[in-house]
Amino acid sequence: MIVTIDGPAGSGKSTVARRLAERLAFRFLDSGALYRCVTFAALERGLSLKDGLGLGRLADGLGIAFGEGNLVLLDGRDVTTEIRTERVTSNVSEVASHAEVREALKGLQRACAVGTDLVCEGRDMGTVIFPQAEVKVYLDASPETRAMRRMTELALSGEEVSLAELVTRMAERDRIDSTRETAPLRRSENQILVDTSGLTIDEVVVRLSNLVPPRS
Ligand code: DC
Repeated sequence: MIVTIDGPAGSGKSTVARRLAERLAFRFLDSGALYRCVTFAALERGLSLKDGLGLGRLADGLGIAFGEGNLVLLDGRDVTTEIRTERVTSNVSEVASHAEVREALKGLQRACAVGTDLVCEGRDMGTVIFPQAEVKVYLDASPETRAMRRMTELALSGEEVSLAELVTRMAERDRIDSTRETAPLRRSENQILVDTSGLTIDEVVVRLSNLVPPRS
């Protein structure tokens, strides 16, 4: 059984998908973390973010793994916090727009569903990576709700950014994510739309759990 959850930044995907996976006792895949790892490694090595071929090669050679407690390991090193900084966040859409990078990360994502039930979240989980998934969801929320969530998240890690600035940055990220040529963020007809504005995380999780058919 595969459950895909796609949607823009701040729609609540990560938290909801993680909780849903726990509740169902399914494996969880945060596909954005993979693109963030490639971005982090590229920035650290001073590579050009316009060089799709070079970034694809980089992505191919990276050892990305998930550890206990949502830990993200890059070539054995814990980069869980580093991949969530604004520096990585503001550059990741450009890195993720390259077809070579997306191709390099495909196998790793599909391998996560081998021999196990999976809840995965990202931008193209239901449209490209797991088109055969049994349950496909598209989460959305108003721009202000999404920016507020991001602001709270950043405040927790000590970064202060104004709401207006975050609305602008998110709109730019959405624009790049949804207009790129390869695997753009878009809602397909067979994805169930859930607007999370005004809903609590628990309410969304319950709503999504109800979409997953019980095991026979
Ligand atoms: O979900 P997130 O904010 O961690 O994702 C980071 C970026 O990675 C996002 O701006 C777009 C990209 N991404 C993608 O292109 N495809 C995915 N399946 C997941 C993320």
